[in-house]
Amino acid sequence: MIYPRIIAHRCGGALTPENTLAGLRLAARLGCRGVEFDAMLAADGVPVLIHDETLERTTSGRGRVADTDSARLAELDAGTRHHVAFAMEPLPTLDAALQLCAALGLWANVEIKPSAGQEAETGRVVARHTAAATCTLLLSSFSAEALRTAASEASNVPRALLVEAIPADWREQVAGSGALALHSSARKLTADAAHAVLSAGFPLRCYTVNRREDADRLFAMGVSAVFTDRPDLWIPSEM
Ligand code: G3P
Ligand code: MG
Repeated sequence: MIYPRIIAHRCGGALTPENTLAGLRLAARLGCRGVEFDAMLAADGVPVLIHDETLERTTSGRGRVADTDSARLAELDAGTRHHVAFAMEPLPTLDAALQLCAALGLWANVEIKPSAGQEAETGRVVARHTAAATCTLLLSSFSAEALRTAASEASNVPRALLVEAIPADWREQVAGSGALALHSSARKLTADAAHAVLSAGFPLRCYTVNRREDADRLFAMGVSAVFTDRPDLWIPSEM
């Protein structure tokens, strides 16, 4: 498969509530081929789509995701904080998101997003769930430990290490994580760092790019894809 160039970040979170099935549906309708979302463990070990370790910013709930059972998470409203038009949009499980990606033909970058102290367990569980998925996948994480654990469960799923600025020892960090690609912040990317990564043969993808001119500059540097909250800025044939 040719990887997508334009990846809807948190399912495309400027247009719909982030990390929701509504986001996946709109991304597909806009012509996106690729989506990214964050997977974290509920208290009972069920992986769900959420970015923050706490519920307050994006949902009607309170407290920590890691302290809340998935049955309680399923009752929350993950839409109204974005806009009342999305009232009662559910906080999805990873399984539901993967099933919808398969139905919509979306490539999915599942970001393993562990609550503090749950790096290995989150990598293991998320990888196990992706092993059963029928959509095309890539796993990524800021946690090398989570990626290594994921590799032991789903060695055939490609993996990328997430970083903010590309560190001087990026080669060691990528090797230590077992990843084959690097995902970095666009804001902190320098041409020299991009060149070093690309000339070593590692694909580079950048987050979060919400202006076309910034994406064009990155593509000119050899970046192969951007994560964006604004997939509506592109037309389907460009994605
Ligand atoms: O995977 C790219 C991007 O999502 C990483 O940052 O904080 O939005 O998960 P964050
Ligand atoms: Mg993410």
